[in-house]
Amino acid sequence: MVQDIRVELTKNKRVKPDMKTVKFGKSFSDHMFLMNYEEGKGWFDPRIVPYGPVEMDMACMVFHYGQEIFEGMKAYRTSEGKVQLFRPTENIRRMAISGERLVMPAVDEDMFLAALKKLLEVDAEWVPSEEATSLYIRPFMIATDVGLGVHASKSYLFSIITCPVGSYYPEGLNPIKIMIESQDVRAVRGGTGIAKCGGNYAASLRASLLAEYKGYSQVLWLDGVERKYIEEVGSMNIMFKVNGEVLTPSLTGSVLAGITRKSCIELMKTWGIDVTERLITVDEIVEAAENGTLEEVWGTGTAAVVSPVGWLTYKDKTFEIGGGKIGTLTQKLYDGLTGIQWGKVPDTLGWTVPV
Ligand code: COI
Repeated sequence: MVQDIRVELTKNKRVKPDMKTVKFGKSFSDHMFLMNYEEGKGWFDPRIVPYGPVEMDMACMVFHYGQEIFEGMKAYRTSEGKVQLFRPTENIRRMAISGERLVMPAVDEDMFLAALKKLLEVDAEWVPSEEATSLYIRPFMIATDVGLGVHASKSYLFSIITCPVGSYYPEGLNPIKIMIESQDVRAVRGGTGIAKCGGNYAASLRASLLAEYKGYSQVLWLDGVERKYIEEVGSMNIMFKVNGEVLTPSLTGSVLAGITRKSCIELMKTWGIDVTERLITVDEIVEAAENGTLEEVWGTGTAAVVSPVGWLTYKDKTFEIGGGKIGTLTQKLYDGLTGIQWGKVPDTLGWTVPV
């Protein structure tokens, strides 16, 4: 059921960044959406208010036990100046799946979509039109019960904030360097790997920081049991082209079901390219890199879009992929996907939703 959304417009407009050089996740738009939940009462008081701090009790459960989930999606400005979302229902449903794992209430699909559309209407001027930019949308939910006993909260705050963004990686569409992590793990089957929750990202920080010190953009995670199978990067899923075949790790329960991953698989299908989803060992990827059959590697994610990987390091051995240049299929996927998102090519798959 869609409830009426109260709107309180800001009196102090925020300064917009230079959209040509805007950094990912640093500048936020004028307004945010908020809605509260209480057990027995359900969701109430949906509102759009000026972006800013929210007062919270320091004993709120989210601060202590990390009961939090989030989503990442984008709004795009088309060449005709219109604003559109990309497969928003997929994100809405995935957030409900994350919520189910962390015992948090789902937001009604129609209400969620209405909140997104209203916020984008109010902050339409924040959707950038510069080349390779978009408005990143971050819906999230936090546990707001006050108390230190470990149990599922009975009250929650759901919010949507937005920020204009360019490339997630400073390299833009230039290939990035990735280190395959052989010590820490991100998630295990039965854990929270399938949920988009803050805890998964917190667990990834130590290895990511060490990799960053060594000059890598990200780490590629192996499975948490045998450290044998390739899983995902954390900020994106991963795909390989080996000897003409496109491979991606199957969704075994500890890998996030990426919407860009799914879209790339579906898009390639329309081009006659079948993607094999299966367990992929790190050894077979190393072997393919050594014998020259690892043709392309790329990541897929809302923030990362389609990001070419030019170098993979495993246990101090670095392999260059495709001469450190973006591969033909990676480029075609980037163009195909962003073409639909920015309305440059017809959306024959019905993925875009006008605002
Ligand atoms: C996204 O791609 O939207 C993500 O949530 C990944 C990352 C920025 C945490």
